[in-house]
Amino acid sequence: MNNPTNNQKFALTTPLYYVNGVPHIGSAYTTITADAVARFQRLQGASVLLITGTDEHGQKIQRTAEELGLAPQVHCDRIVESFKSLWQRLNIKYDRFSRTTAENHQKIVNEFFERVWQQGDIYLARQQGWYCVSCEEFKEERELIENHHCAIHTNKPAEWRDEENYFFRLSKYQQFLEELYRTQPDFIQPASRRNEVINFVGQGLKDFSISRVNLDWGFPMPVDKKHTIYVWFDALLGYVTALLDPDREVSLENALSQWWPIDLHLIGKDILRFHAVYWPAMLASAGLPLPKKVFGHGFLTKDGLKMGKTLGNTIDPFDLVDKYGADAVRYYFLKEIELGKDGDFNETRFINVLNADLANDLGNLLNRTLGMLKKYCQSKVPQLSGADYSSDHPLKSIGLDLGDRVVQMNENLQFSQGCEAILTLVRAGNKYIDDSAPWKLFKEGKQAEVEQILYAVLESVRLSAYLLSPIIPSISSKIYQQLGFDWDFNDDNHPQTASDFSIHSQWGKLTIEGTLGKASPVFSKLELPSEDQIMASNLTKIFFDWYKVTNSKRRTAIALVFNS
Ligand code: MSP
Repeated sequence: MNNPTNNQKFALTTPLYYVNGVPHIGSAYTTITADAVARFQRLQGASVLLITGTDEHGQKIQRTAEELGLAPQVHCDRIVESFKSLWQRLNIKYDRFSRTTAENHQKIVNEFFERVWQQGDIYLARQQGWYCVSCEEFKEERELIENHHCAIHTNKPAEWRDEENYFFRLSKYQQFLEELYRTQPDFIQPASRRNEVINFVGQGLKDFSISRVNLDWGFPMPVDKKHTIYVWFDALLGYVTALLDPDREVSLENALSQWWPIDLHLIGKDILRFHAVYWPAMLASAGLPLPKKVFGHGFLTKDGLKMGKTLGNTIDPFDLVDKYGADAVRYYFLKEIELGKDGDFNETRFINVLNADLANDLGNLLNRTLGMLKKYCQSKVPQLSGADYSSDHPLKSIGLDLGDRVVQMNENLQFSQGCEAILTLVRAGNKYIDDSAPWKLFKEGKQAEVEQILYAVLESVRLSAYLLSPIIPSISSKIYQQLGFDWDFNDDNHPQTASDFSIHSQWGKLTIEGTLGKASPVFSKLELPSEDQIMASNLTKIFFDWYKVTNSKRRTAIALVFNS
């Protein structure tokens, strides 16, 4: 099994989220996924550093604060609290929260800037072009839709800029980047995103501006205080600042000494260019090693439609987690959406998936097995092991290499496939009980056979709970506790080790001693929305479909009415 040894390290990041508003479902999606990766690495005994945080400078934030009549820092401090609160509710175990307004960050940015400056990669020139403040990015004409609106932020026009900016010599790194993508095919994942980037770079790279004028909210450029450092140049370095141990002197060298290079940057596809093109070029210019992998996940839609404030069809992650609980939300997004592909949220589907997989299949399997153990074995786990079963046994044959397969899939961030593989064992467990009818065998006095069946099923539930623990840690903990383990997958004081992993991740290796815990449902069935609610949601869909095909002036008027 290719699990890490105790001393293996794994550092990963979510994007540093803009604080123009409270967190949305997109940020929750990336963070849930990153947390599952981190938990999966910890489960295998690796030392993990999960970095998340906030991107607080730039025009977008400055304007938002102005609109609210707040000093930018006051605004940022408020929004940061809502991010931290959501991560707590979603049971995200991050190790560092990086804020780009943190004091030590400026020192890191300046030191990095100095290296790139010394390299001769920064020069002053005229910048003319269309700027999307929401993306904080200059756009090519061809990237804009009608009336110079950004294709991502369709409700906001891009703004024409004509000013002196400092530029970074990205074009110098064209060959370097092409070589990187060729020699490290895994650097950008999934493959479709890699191809996008290769095509983009293949068209020829242009230098990009890394300073702004007429903007106070940011770090002044060390060589020319009239300029502010471009928010993306500053933000990417937030990953580096986060690596600095709190008690160490602030320097680039200290920040990079322990955890660099980052193993994984997990991001959404819209910010791939910054991470897979600009960032490695900036690092190369500063003479630093590159991160190992950038994974660009897909976008979420709701009921098949792009989400947006104008359309008023966003999903509030706070509502979702308050209504259904952290494990349910985590499970839906990781199981139902193949990471890398776009995915949809639909409440009826959400409820159906959770009821089918967690209440009916997994919960029910545990429940009925514990019931039978109580009845037929006085709640004592039969003292058997995997060696007592032939290799073609219906559960052993699936369970035996399940751990290895799930490790492989999770290493590739294929959580959806990993969940499916685990569910195959769970479903086989339910079928096996139905087919072998232990209640009949018990009546016939065949105790040894009953015990054989129940141990095999119990071991399958245990293994499933263990392998699902990075995704549904609280449900997995409940299952483990009902199986008699003193174990909590959320407990920091119970670090997992590589040797725990090699035993717990295999079918039939573990003998469960002692008495089973108290049985109780691990996941209660959810109520489907009422017909009225479904009707309202269908009407909304019909309305938006019509809205999409109608002309843009009418669209704006309708949006105003709809949102008022
Ligand atoms: N501040 C930058 C990142 C700087 S990293 C050094 C930023 N922030 S963001 O808050 O706008 O984006 C956060 C993440 O949310 C991105 O990964 C983005 O892809 C993701 N999503 C935003 N909307 C989304 C969906 N509808 N669906 C899935 N993820 C989406 O960009």
